[in-house]
Parts: sequence; structure tokens; C-alpha cells
Amino acid sequence: MEKVKLAVIGAGNQCTQALMPVIPYVADFDLVAICDLQRDLAERNARMFGARSVYTDFEQMLAEQRPDAVMVVGPPQMHQDVGIACLQAGCHLFIEKPAAPTTEGAKRLVDAAAAAGKIGQVGHMMRHADPVRIAWDIAHADDFGRILSVESKYTTWPTGVIPPGNGWGEPDSDWTYMLVQGGHPIDLMRHFLGPIVRVAGRKSVGQGNTKVYQVAVESAEGRVGFLNLQDSLNGWTTRLEVVGDAMGIVAVDDLGRVSHRRGEKRYPAEAETNGNTAYTWEPHHSLPAWGRAGYGRELQYFARCILEGKQGVPSLWDGWRNLVVGQAIVESCATGLMVEVPPG
Ligand SMILES: NC(=O)c1ccc[n+]([C@@H]2O[C@H](COP(=O)([O-])OP(=O)(O)OC[C@H]3O[C@@H](n4cnc5c(N)ncnc54)[C@H](O)[C@@H]3O)[C@@H](O)[C@H]2O)c1
Repeated sequence: MEKVKLAVIGAGNQCTQALMPVIPYVADFDLVAICDLQRDLAERNARMFGARSVYTDFEQMLAEQRPDAVMVVGPPQMHQDVGIACLQAGCHLFIEKPAAPTTEGAKRLVDAAAAAGKIGQVGHMMRHADPVRIAWDIAHADDFGRILSVESKYTTWPTGVIPPGNGWGEPDSDWTYMLVQGGHPIDLMRHFLGPIVRVAGRKSVGQGNTKVYQVAVESAEGRVGFLNLQDSLNGWTTRLEVVGDAMGIVAVDDLGRVSHRRGEKRYPAEAETNGNTAYTWEPHHSLPAWGRAGYGRELQYFARCILEGKQGVPSLWDGWRNLVVGQAIVESCATGLMVEVPPG
């Protein structure tokens, strides 16, 4: 296979604003078709981003186009059913988050991919954002030592409750938050800290059902982390901080500025700094969707994984585990107890 024949299902907001604009830059993709229940949306996106054919019935598209991979971007109920159908039709799968409306549904996708022997990746794109990749390299260099702790803060717009009947079907506002937003900072936490075994959370609720969840987490290797999840801002801001045991800290603010405090007095010029020297990078993003948010990088990586025959991350398994951790956080906040995360 020289190029990955890609078909897209869903031509709504996320697909049109974040994902489709980067597809023409992924040289490994051959965009063969796009499908939406609303033909005008599919036609618009085919025109803007260069798909050769348009469908309103995804099964007809799979049968006629025989794509190597499918990108599914719709509501989570549709993700689960359509995602499984794509895997069973022999296609690799990129699926937006959440992969399903329930943890059980997300596990079904994991099992369907394993049964079909296909690659599955979930759209937790922050792992692939350039500043996070820089932080990852720093945190995994020898002079950073072992990761001791991770703090992942994520503040977004009030989530509210998504009315049932539009493919979300989720009446619970805490679970809606975990489906819509919580999965992203949880995914970053798991990416740096490893599997999470226990959580202890508290929640405060404000006007308009704005919510803040403050959650202490513990990893399987006894490392600790802190999730600060807020849907209390009419905007978006985020911070990741990773602490290593060789006196170093690396932080990423707003998926932009990366700062590394090394702590070591390695050079004469650092001798009087008491470890307070910060090395900073502020990447300039001429196409923010590509490198800053990570949408371009995640899709480029997905295509490379297919061509090289390897399962990448965040996998469908990661998508499932992010929801399992989210469920434990909801339970901990409701009961006031520390909750064990069911093993995966
Ligand atoms: N990773 C991120 O940063 C991020 C950001 C926003 C949204 N999202 C995710 O993207 C997904 C889509 O969100 P959105 O805001 O674009 O929703 P949307 O409602 O704007 O778009 C969904 C589209 O899917 C189409 N659709 C539904 N069922 C279909 C089917 N069976 N066949 C073909 N088309 C079908 C609908 O007609 C609609 O056009 C959600 O799961 C959301 O969580 C991710």
C-alpha cells in the first residue's frame, strides 16, 4: 500500500473546522469519499477538501469504495455502531472522542478491532500536539529522572446537559462532562503517568451548572497526579506540569509555551540561579490545527501507523480506559470516597 485510501463519515462542525482542513497536508492519505446523512454537508466538504465522491449511506460507501481506513466524526452513539461496522468491513478506524456513550460500548470497539485485526485510534489529539511532544521528550530524557507527578488542568466552556435524541442520549451532567471534555486531560494524565488505579475527587457547582472537579490520582507505579477539570470559563485554557526526580519540571501552557526548569547547575552561568533557570519554547503555529492542537499530527501519525502495520496511541483501548477513569471520578465526587479504578 503506497497511500491509505481514506473515507470520512460525518461532515459536521468538528470534522469541518478541525480535521478536514489538515487532511490535504497528510501526503499518506488518498481521500476517496465523504458521507453525511445531510448530503449538502458532505458535498460542501468534498468541494472544500477534495474528496472524490459523496454519500449519505456509509455502508454503500464502504461497499463501493473499499477504503483502507475510515475517519468517524459524529455523536458517540453513532461512533459505537458505525465504528464497529467499519472494523467489521475490514477498515482501520480513526474515531473522534468519545468512542462510545458508555464504558461498555467503548470496550466493544476495543474487542471489535481485536477481532478484525485492525488499527484503531481515538481523537484525543493533545498527546500529538507539538508542545506536548516536546514536553514528552524532555520528561523522558535521562537527565529528567523518573516522573514523580503530573498535573493536568483543563478549563473549558460550560458543558451543560446534551439533550437526548441527538445521538448523545446522555441525561447526566457529570457523565456528559466526562464524555465531552474530561477525556482529554485524563488522556494526557495517563499518557505521562501511566495506568491510574485510584482517584479521590471533590466537585463544586456554580451558577448555570458550571462545575469544577479537583481530583487526586494514583498510578499503578505509585506515582501521584492531580486533575483540575473546570467547565467554568467562556473560553479555553490548559496547563500540563510534569515533575521528575532529578530536580526538573516541564510545563506546557495553553498547548503553546513549553518551559523546562532543569534544577541542575550544569553550566557556570547557572551557578547562582538556585535551579530557577527556565528554558522556554513558544512555537509559532501558522496552521494551528496542525501542530498546536495536534489534529494534523494525530492524523499523520494514524496514516503512518497503517502503512507501517503498527497500533498507535491513543488506541481504542486508551479511549476506553479514559472513560473508565472518568466514571471513577464521577463516583468519587458523588460518594466522597476514594474509588478504585477497575483494572483493564
Ligand atoms: N477532539 C476534539 O477536540 C473535539 C472537539 C469537538 C468535537 N469533538 C467530537 O467530534 C464529534 C462530532 O462533533 P460535532 O460538533 O462535529 O457534531 P455535529 O453534530 O456538528 O456533526 C456530526 C455529523 O455527523 C453526521 N452523522 C450522524 N450520524 C451519521 C451517520 N450514521 N452517517 C453519516 N453521518 C452521520 C450528522 O449529520 C452531522 O453532520 C463528537 O463526538 C465530539 O465529541 C472532538
